[in-house]
Amino acid sequence: MDAIELFAPLGPTYDRYARLLSFGQDPRWRRFLVSRMDVGPDDAVLDVATGTAAVAIELVRRSGCRVVGLDQSREMLETGGRRVAEAGLDGRIELVEGRAEQLPFADASFDGLTFTYLLRYVADPEATLRELSRVVRPGRTIAMLEFGVPPGPARLAWELYVRAGLPVLGAVVSPGWRRVGSFLGDSIRDFHRRYDLLELWRAAGIENVRLRRLSLGGGVVVWGNRA
Ligand SMILES: C[S@@+](CC[C@H](N)C(=O)[O-])C[C@H]1O[C@@H](n2cnc3c(N)ncnc32)[C@H](O)[C@@H]1O
Repeated sequence: MDAIELFAPLGPTYDRYARLLSFGQDPRWRRFLVSRMDVGPDDAVLDVATGTAAVAIELVRRSGCRVVGLDQSREMLETGGRRVAEAGLDGRIELVEGRAEQLPFADASFDGLTFTYLLRYVADPEATLRELSRVVRPGRTIAMLEFGVPPGPARLAWELYVRAGLPVLGAVVSPGWRRVGSFLGDSIRDFHRRYDLLELWRAAGIENVRLRRLSLGGGVVVWGNRA
């Protein structure tokens, strides 16, 4: 199933269940992601795969920057637009429909870029990273959040959760969340089997790449600077 179909029914319930299904860790991971961004009130940040705009809102609250949030799902953006309005941030956040693989922006037009849970959904992660990097000014920060596969003893608990707990919990919520619950474990495992995140980022020409595992490795934040 492609990502547009997967996310179309999730917008209105996304924030509540993303938090519940990640045992409340998801907002904490986003806050760490945003804390990596060296931006201030005069800067413009692009948040790709913005979905319901949670990262975009956190960016403005923390640093006062302006944010353009881009996503390919109109339905997720509709919920995002409501959240931005409720937060009184319409003047600081603009939401745009578009694809990460082909951004509708000129080279070096942003002072920073964030993206969340994106690379598992694109056909060529290295090419997409190059495209994201293209629109950032040289030297400025690019940061991402992704699910991880915990190493060591926590791996067993993680496998149990994604193989048994998540599909059952998803099915209880709705058909849309049942699809997410059944596909997420394989998607995360396959992605990390195929790609080493540090190598991937460096291959895309990003410098000073750093990685932090959060919540025993269930979340991973990577950040670096546009060369
Ligand atoms: C799991 S949601 C994350 C939303 C949000 N950033 C957050 O922190 O919760 C992933 C988002 O990526 C978007 N997405 C997936 N592939 C995309 C692509 N190629 N271009 C733009 N957005 C994409 C989906 O529409 C969805 O809104």
